[in-house]
Amino acid sequence: MKNALGAVDSVLLLGGRSEIGLAVVELLVKRGARRIVLAVRGETDAPDLKALGAEVHVVDFDAARPESHGDVVRTAVDLVGDLDVVISAFGVLGDQAVYERDPVSAAHAVAVNFGGQVSVCLHVAERLREQRHGTLIVLSSVAGVRVRKANYVYGSTKAGLDGFAQGLGDALHGSGANVMVVRPGFVRGRMTAGMPPAPMATTPGEVAAAVVAGLREGKETVWAPAVLAPVFALMRVLPRAVWRRMPR
Ligand SMILES: NC(=O)c1ccc[n+]([C@@H]2O[C@H](COP(=O)([O-])OP(=O)(O)OC[C@H]3O[C@@H](n4cnc5c(N)ncnc54)[C@H](OP(=O)(O)O)[C@@H]3O)[C@@H](O)[C@H]2O)c1
Repeated sequence: MKNALGAVDSVLLLGGRSEIGLAVVELLVKRGARRIVLAVRGETDAPDLKALGAEVHVVDFDAARPESHGDVVRTAVDLVGDLDVVISAFGVLGDQAVYERDPVSAAHAVAVNFGGQVSVCLHVAERLREQRHGTLIVLSSVAGVRVRKANYVYGSTKAGLDGFAQGLGDALHGSGANVMVVRPGFVRGRMTAGMPPAPMATTPGEVAAAVVAGLREGKETVWAPAVLAPVFALMRVLPRAVWRRMPR
């Protein structure tokens, strides 16, 4: 439940070690959030959040096990009550060349990035609908806005997720709950370690600032950085023959 000043109090982070997700949670804690649930595979610790005064709970969560997702959300609610903000930040990038050599690994990435997101977000939506309030923040990507040959397995999972999240947001319209879709570009961090940064590369902290501003303004879509919105409006209409020559 939101605190007396109407600020976010409780947060569930699905993918509780995500650099972007944790950066968002940290900003929310600095702005008054106090009850945090980190949903992760195995254990984790969050000394920074605790040092800022947050109560931190850890729940076991495997995106590839959809049959367990209902319990994950129920356990989070048992721990902190109503969920003001849920951030769905888990995912795997992988390597396109490996996916092409090993289609089983590609299917696994799809099961996590798309199937796992669909499953857990449907459980979250059911809860937010019951509460009649709360925001689900879904980490999509510009990679899904127009899929490139350089990473079409990952990109297609994000295209699917982005479409799903938009549809879910429309389905929740009028319920009091809402969905915010976040489309970061290249974010320097663990997921992209060793890769040369793409133009307009950003950081987890900058993405978090855009997400928290979007939350305050009740936005349905956040691009990080914001300039990617007009850039991708153009990218979407490039002729296919030009698009397929995109190097990366
Ligand atoms: N980094 C970028 O450039 C970028 C750009 C656009 C969009 N995004 C998206 O933003 C989100 C957050 O990315 P990030 O940069 O914060 O990456 P990150 O630090 O690598 O975090 C991703 C998290 O997903 C978790 N995860 C992977 N498979 C899982 C599974 N089967 N069950 C539960 N958790 C699982 C990982 O858990 P473990 O700690 O257990 O491995 C990891 O903590 C992702 O959805 C990503 O696709 C990232």
